[in-house]
Amino acid sequence: MSFLKEIERRRTFGIISHPDAGKTTLTEKLLLFGGAIKEAGAVKNNKIKKGATSDFMEIERQRGISVATSVLAFIYKDKKINILDTPGHKDFAEDTFRTLTAVDSVIVVVDVAKGVEEQTEKLVEVCRMRKIPIIVFINKLDREGKDAFDLLDEVEQKLGLKVTPLSFPIGMGYDFKGIYNIWEQKLNLFSPDNKQKISEGVEFNDINNPELDKLVGEKSANTLRDELEMVYEIYPKFNQEEYLEGNLQPVFFGSALNNFGVKELLDCFINIAPKPQPKMSDVRLVDSKEDKLTGFVFKIHANMDPKHRDRLAFIKIVSGTFKRNAPYLHTRLGKKMKFSSPNTFFAEKKEIVDESFAGDIVGLHDTGNFKIGDTLTEGEQLNFKGIPSFSPEHFRYVNNADPLKSKQLYKGLDQLMDEGVAQLFTMEMNGRKIVGTVGALQYEVIQYRLEHEYGAKCTYENISVHKACWVQPEDPKNDEFKEFKQLKQRYLARDKQGQLVFLADSAFTIQMTQQKFPTVKLHFTSEFD
Ligand code: G4P
Repeated sequence: MSFLKEIERRRTFGIISHPDAGKTTLTEKLLLFGGAIKEAGAVKNNKIKKGATSDFMEIERQRGISVATSVLAFIYKDKKINILDTPGHKDFAEDTFRTLTAVDSVIVVVDVAKGVEEQTEKLVEVCRMRKIPIIVFINKLDREGKDAFDLLDEVEQKLGLKVTPLSFPIGMGYDFKGIYNIWEQKLNLFSPDNKQKISEGVEFNDINNPELDKLVGEKSANTLRDELEMVYEIYPKFNQEEYLEGNLQPVFFGSALNNFGVKELLDCFINIAPKPQPKMSDVRLVDSKEDKLTGFVFKIHANMDPKHRDRLAFIKIVSGTFKRNAPYLHTRLGKKMKFSSPNTFFAEKKEIVDESFAGDIVGLHDTGNFKIGDTLTEGEQLNFKGIPSFSPEHFRYVNNADPLKSKQLYKGLDQLMDEGVAQLFTMEMNGRKIVGTVGALQYEVIQYRLEHEYGAKCTYENISVHKACWVQPEDPKNDEFKEFKQLKQRYLARDKQGQLVFLADSAFTIQMTQQKFPTVKLHFTSEFD
């Protein structure tokens, strides 16, 4: 197959949802369609289960599983589908944000009874900002839930989307009869006694056909006719361009558990979802069809085996072909590197491959050369943008609890930060280290991993920080910036890249500081123009 055809047939996306909405179940059903797995229950759930083990021990267990579920790939109707895993737990939101830099589109799963939940709101906001094409799947129609129109309203209001249903439910819960597939003009009837049977759907382009009454009953048929009339009246017609631009979001209804409505979703997805997209770098826009390789690291998995310092860096290929043993330039280090055993992912297995194409993810064994955001090219000096650090939510001083092991502690902290577990800030005044995280859970994870993987012990000390603000002076030499640095001396730190950060203790302080020093810009992310 030609290089361009290989790229054209790739669809790389993420499934996002609030925990429990059905992301794992949907992923599994999609893999079943691709023939990538044989039975339900094969995909391990990587969510953090409440219960017996303490949360951070559970995270460790999940870390083992999550290498396998990081990328789930399969072929469906000649399309190569790459599903990138996104942790649902809110304390790992930053992981998910980073993964979203490597997807070309997303599917958002919403629970029909719970509607739009908090975590979904946050993740969709990021997708919206980046104009990532979104398809919404409303799940669990076999249960009683909210009225379909109310839900569509909620999706529009809470997620700020403009929706167009491409399927519509006939009843729900006890009364669920099936869905009308607007996209293909087919009727799919639900059979509760044979839940795993995948119905092909019958062509049904005229819903006024009396046959409908026979199939679903007169009452349901009439309701569907009225509802579809409303759908056509209220919602814009589907337009692929608008969807690809992130301005219109198709909605599907179904039940992942019952494998209902999933095939319709997938069939539409492979038709409309974007091929590998161009990506902006610090020097130019890189197109996926360029023949030279470019790619960037969006995720690092480290120390799965404590006996070996093994790390796997996940690279999203932006353009060209990744070839085994070819020399590539690590642009941050200015160093040429070769990879003798690049892994690709297929279903739940990883295997060594000779070639991968734009849109694919390769896993590279790493001995500490990679950080999240690093770029590989065939020689061109460029860096991909769009993997900023966000201001953490929690901040604590980290202290060394075993003076004989300080080297191990700093090495451990350094590597965990490269992996993106948390962010490290060093105070300008006294060199003290502060760890910033999205969730409180990470502190336990760091402590545990430092001890088990590096033989180091740490303790934490509370510090009152509201937000980390990356500082951008209009003129680093002007008096205003000098005064700012002097006045805020006690609150200034450097992040791992050496960027200056103001650790503000309240929203009020940020406001006052911005008023007093208008030429010193404060940003809540590390990447700004
Ligand atoms: P997540 O990855 O988004 O966190 O959700 P997951 O797929 O694990 O689904 C959460 C729960 O919702 C699971 O039940 C799952 O079986 C159920 N579920 C998913 N899709 C549907 C659906 O279409 N209809 C119904 N009725 N339930 C659905 P659980 O009891 O928490 O787990 P399990 O014991 O079934 O694995």
